[in-house]
Amino acid sequence: MLEQLNPQPQDKILQLIAMYREDPRANKIDLGVGVYKDATGLTPVMRAVKAAEKQLWETETTKTYTGLAGEPAYNAAMIEMILGAGFAERAASVATPGGTGAIRQALELIKLASPKAKVWLSNPTWPNHPSIIKYLGMQMAEYRYFDAETRGIDFEGLMQDLANVTAGDAVLLHGCCHNPTGANLNADQWAQVAALLLAKGAIPFVDLAYQGFGDGLEKDAAATRMIAATFPEVLIAASCSKNFGIYRERTGILIGLGEASRKAVTQGNLNFLNRQNYSFPPDHGARLVTMILQDDALRADWKAELEEVRQNMLGLRKSLADALRLATNSDRFDFVASHRGMFSRLGLTEAQVNLLRDEHGIYMVGDSRINIAGLNAKTVPILAAAIAKVAS
Ligand code: LMR
Repeated sequence: MLEQLNPQPQDKILQLIAMYREDPRANKIDLGVGVYKDATGLTPVMRAVKAAEKQLWETETTKTYTGLAGEPAYNAAMIEMILGAGFAERAASVATPGGTGAIRQALELIKLASPKAKVWLSNPTWPNHPSIIKYLGMQMAEYRYFDAETRGIDFEGLMQDLANVTAGDAVLLHGCCHNPTGANLNADQWAQVAALLLAKGAIPFVDLAYQGFGDGLEKDAAATRMIAATFPEVLIAASCSKNFGIYRERTGILIGLGEASRKAVTQGNLNFLNRQNYSFPPDHGARLVTMILQDDALRADWKAELEEVRQNMLGLRKSLADALRLATNSDRFDFVASHRGMFSRLGLTEAQVNLLRDEHGIYMVGDSRINIAGLNAKTVPILAAAIAKVAS
């Protein structure tokens, strides 16, 4: 049987990790996978996470199974962090293995409820979105999102394409910090998108993987909160990988908002899907997140460190934009400073991306997405000079 398997296409982001590891050059620069790094290149364990782990080790008395939906305290704390108060009655939820687990379960739920529903994705989007949808055999469509000229939003194209959404379609929206472009809708644009999708009878499906990495913990949730308050039904897939820095603990949540009277049935279906796919969700990361969110001191320290991380990325954006202005003697890369989150799509060709890798040891995704957090004060001018060289 196994001899009938065909090789699978490689994930472009994960492939880069391997290529970077194998590169023997000492001065290589990794701007590939979306992992936060400090100025020394380390992805640190956050202070509050360390403290919670110590406390957990001292107080944990059992490792017996948790609930199928995870620990209720985790789900409640996450719903509050993402949506604020007032949604508990409408919100069914399950803890999931990371944000990817939440996306997978959301798609499975859509398929279970409405096998023919189409899922709309921004063009471009995180490559694993279409990959999972295709794997599940679901229908998919794209809406324009990015203007390759301005490196901002193609809002006219986006609205034109979303006008073709039909009732019951799910529309995947990046809640903040769009991956891979770094270009984000403003509040007025979000309101227009919401009004259009509401009129079409669409179900918003929000991917919120970078809350706290853009404009701050509260502001990054603003669009998701507006959507949650506006639509009768919403799916939200959120990740704690980045904002708690617990990537390998696989900590995420899927929230299904609907009519309060339907909550029990939705919850039952979410539990069912967890049981079919992996039974109980991972607990360690979820427990740490719960401890941090419930404890005033830990929560304050976590928020302060998350803010340091965000400010660091903002600073790097500004210095990269300045360095590129100097190196290229033009303002064509000024957009880097106004993008938000970990990523910016630079608008280089694949050949230029390859040149940067082969000749300068600089690794970025083939569509010229860079992870801003992969930079530091020393590498910013090196990157700017190399870009000026290959893009001139
Ligand atoms: C990314 O886009 O680099 C991250 O979301 C990590 C991943 O799993 O691809």
